[in-house]
Amino acid sequence: MTANSLSLWTPAKVNLYLEIVGDRPDGFHELSTIFQSIGLMDRVTVAVKSGPAAISVDCAHPLVPNDHTNLAYRAAELMAQAFPEGADRQSTIQIAIAKNIPVAAGLAGGSSNAAAVLVGLNMLWELGLTRQELQDLAAKLGSDTAFCIGGGTALATGRGEVLDSLPCISDLWVVLGKYDNLSISTPWAYKRYREVFEKEYARDQDTQTSRHDQVRSGAMVRLLSKLAKGDRHNLEKIRALLRNDLERVVLPDYDQIQKLRECFLGQTPLGAMMSGSGPTVFGIAANGANAKLIKSAVRQYMPDPELSLWTAPFIAQGVHLASDISV
Ligand code: C5P
Repeated sequence: MTANSLSLWTPAKVNLYLEIVGDRPDGFHELSTIFQSIGLMDRVTVAVKSGPAAISVDCAHPLVPNDHTNLAYRAAELMAQAFPEGADRQSTIQIAIAKNIPVAAGLAGGSSNAAAVLVGLNMLWELGLTRQELQDLAAKLGSDTAFCIGGGTALATGRGEVLDSLPCISDLWVVLGKYDNLSISTPWAYKRYREVFEKEYARDQDTQTSRHDQVRSGAMVRLLSKLAKGDRHNLEKIRALLRNDLERVVLPDYDQIQKLRECFLGQTPLGAMMSGSGPTVFGIAANGANAKLIKSAVRQYMPDPELSLWTAPFIAQGVHLASDISV
């Protein structure tokens, strides 16, 4: 019997490296970025049935819209348009989102939820789309949505949707901190970056390609490859290799994030940084026990009840069935 409902885990990501290389003809920025999936996950349930063509989203989080502006809704709309044969049979699509990932936080929570809708409908409608085909669809929804399909560790170029898998790292953890009342607009962060740093942009294709090549053969990718093989001799070098260009515009305007980052840096020798366009700050921890210690130490220095803290391991998966079968 064909399933008509399934639940998927949708992992968050952090950026271990984010270099803004230049402008793109489509108005976005050309990036070289390293994404890492982490075990902080939402749970998305997708159900389909015959009936009127309708999409519904149900999420209890006060900051998540339940209408067509939700990226998960738009993912369902995209699938219904692209695959009318599936939509004709079961055209009522119901999406339920149980949120654990903080919203508008630089952790790709919304993108990951949307990726789950693509993966879920591919399975429920038995479309047989490959990972690459799902990633191509995902790229229409957002710059980091394609990564959320397969997750793990990846070097991304283009807008963030051109993916090269890197070997997966296990046994590293992150501690995450976010002020509940703080959110940052991603378009604002990039627009501000252009205003201040446009003069540094690589103008022509060749220069952009050579900047990508430098990252691909650079120290961070080499260190991550060693860590993936279990060689942790130079683990502490990761601290100096973390890079997020968006910090250059966000930190000067948000003293709270700057102070949180400094606090994290004081508690972990492995470094700390803002993820994506923020405002979440993460610190790297050598293992789960260490992550707990760092979290308690940060809490001691920053008792503000508005500051939420989490720990999560690096994981090798993107969206996957809640029964833990990889898709
Ligand atoms: O694709 P996504 O919805 O994440 O992008 C949000 C905004 O961030 C875009 O509208 C754009 O202003 C900016 N952005 C960019 N270059 C990228 C990714 C995002 O300028 N590579």
